[in-house]
Amino acid sequence: MATEATRNQPDLPGVWKGRPPGLPGTVPPPSIPLAFLAAAPLGLLATGVTWIWARGAAATSPGADPVVAAVHFGVLATLAMAVLGAAHQFTPVITGRPLRSSLLGRLTFAFFLPASWALPLGVATEQVTVTAIAGALIGVAVVLLVVNLAPALAVKGKGAPVAALRIAMAGAVATGFLGVLFVGNRQGNWFSFSGHVDLAMGVLGLFGWLGMTYVGVAEKLWPMFMLSHLPGRRRSRGLAVWGISLGVALSAPGLAYSVGLLAWPGAVLIACGLGAHLASLVAHVRHRRRQADLHLAFVLTSAAFLPAGTGLAIAAVWTMPYHYHTGVALAAAAMAAFGGWVLVALVGHSYKVVPFIVWSVLRSRGIATGPTGKPLMFADLYNHTWAAVSYAAVTVGMVALCLGLGFGNPTTIGTAGFLFAATAVIVGTDLVAIPLRILRHPGPQTASAVAPVGHNY
Ligand code: HEM
Repeated sequence: MATEATRNQPDLPGVWKGRPPGLPGTVPPPSIPLAFLAAAPLGLLATGVTWIWARGAAATSPGADPVVAAVHFGVLATLAMAVLGAAHQFTPVITGRPLRSSLLGRLTFAFFLPASWALPLGVATEQVTVTAIAGALIGVAVVLLVVNLAPALAVKGKGAPVAALRIAMAGAVATGFLGVLFVGNRQGNWFSFSGHVDLAMGVLGLFGWLGMTYVGVAEKLWPMFMLSHLPGRRRSRGLAVWGISLGVALSAPGLAYSVGLLAWPGAVLIACGLGAHLASLVAHVRHRRRQADLHLAFVLTSAAFLPAGTGLAIAAVWTMPYHYHTGVALAAAAMAAFGGWVLVALVGHSYKVVPFIVWSVLRSRGIATGPTGKPLMFADLYNHTWAAVSYAAVTVGMVALCLGLGFGNPTTIGTAGFLFAATAVIVGTDLVAIPLRILRHPGPQTASAVAPVGHNY
């Protein structure tokens, strides 16, 4: 992805000054994305443990505080954490413009990490002061994020992926704002909502922020990871971005204030946008020149959670007027399935993105070969068997969570929690163990041993 223009960027405050040759001149210091990406498995571990603890409450009342705590360890400490890592890494690469400053990136992490843990812990322990402080810290983190990425996102003429990243920033601001209102309400019911405001937050956060980032970044990553450069202009990319974002803009207020005339068209637009996103995925899969691999399995499995979530959401709407409790359980299962779309995609992409960043760190330290003396490739930096085990664990875990919430079965929800915790331990250990070994015992280094960046995936 390095062009002449990006290679010749002067050393600005947001770029990695010690980057090895071949990387775009706009990449941020690796410690910024890696900090977020390293914190995400810890968040997933906490998510798993909290689902095990909350399994009884989740089976009977999906809106109870222990469930809100498990949901937010998932959406904030895991999904948003990884998405923020990806946004810091890929916004400069996709736009060709650097972060405003590395310090702002580090401050965003410093505010978001404690906040993303304090919010669910405060909810779980019913400490309203803790949730209030967490809400304030998240507000600051979101402002820092926008200030840092705004100059890069102001770039013109870069198409749907950059539009998606801009909209995702707006989604982060809107979700953060709604979260602060929720936190305020915990102090003493300051605001009144007449409808399903919790679902409104789910739609805003999952589709408007987290999912939108994936939709944008995937359009740049799929061609690289699948070797699938598609010919001509593709309308599906723009349709996905605008369908989802307009749909969220209509359905979130429609759900919050029970206005069917907004919620229904919004839901249809989101479904069209997600359909276009899937059509783009099918096109990449059909044009790919790389053999089917674990990354493809992750991406396809993640995509399968979209029709599953849509089916569950339709079932919830049909059931709710006749059997309210079952309708709520199905709505919770639908939300979990949409979360599964993002989670499985993030775990799968972490096996490509983290080794790439770690590889460039090793290269910047003069390490070009592995312990065997062969040129170091991204794929040498993790154990593929453990990666496959993590694929099975996270997939079965997500299916179990949907089934457990839908059927109100605490054992199945607890099993999901155990599998999330196992996934976190496997992914976190697998992506760190081999690079650490190489750092401690680098093989013999020769100048000719360097594997080129672009042919390495
Ligand atoms: C990443 C995006 C987010 C998503 C997908 C999301 C999703 C949700 C969902 C689905 C619920 C309802 C849970 C249930 O009833 O079991 C909820 C409730 C809640 N959310 Fe979020 N959320 C997000 C971000 C935030 C943020 C940033 C904050 C705080 C700043 C926040 C604070 C809250 C609070 C306090 C509640 C409980 C409301 C109540 O019942 O008192 N959320 N969220």
